[in-house]
Amino acid sequence: MKKIEISTSAIVFKDISELPKDDKMLMEKAIEARGNAYAPYSKFNVGAALLLENNEIVLGNNQENAAYPSGMCAERVAIWNAGSHFPGVKILKLAITASSTISKVDKPVGPCGACRQTLSEFEINQKQPFELLFMGEVGEVVKTESLLSLLPFSFDSAYL
Ligand code: THU
Repeated sequence: MKKIEISTSAIVFKDISELPKDDKMLMEKAIEARGNAYAPYSKFNVGAALLLENNEIVLGNNQENAAYPSGMCAERVAIWNAGSHFPGVKILKLAITASSTISKVDKPVGPCGACRQTLSEFEINQKQPFELLFMGEVGEVVKTESLLSLLPFSFDSAYL
């Protein structure tokens, strides 16, 4: 028997104004994408912006549906948008932001488990980590060096 320790680290910025210029620009794109979210049921609007190695910025936002499980998170809309338009082009960064029309989202909103799983496959395939930045509507921004650092013991195609 053995015990193993798993640790991860993140940088926390006090707000968007403290971010390095390129990160701030990407987060502003995520905010822009958030404005087009279709979230009439949860009232929780999420925007995501990916910076690709070819300098393209690809956006996504959550898209809900009256049949609730048929909706989709912003992160997966964004990454599949990138996958469908720029297959094989590496992702350098992903910025995520969330706001709500019923409460102030003032804590960083990380990607849900299903999105982490989906995003992890892209990071594994490109053999290079991509940075993740996430925030609420206001307040702190969390920055991590890789997606997989947020998903220990993850499942991937190697098991199949
Ligand atoms: N949502 C996202 O877009 N990303 C996440 O990582 C978590 C949740 C969306 C799904 C749904 O439209 C709304 O937020 C409330 O869960």
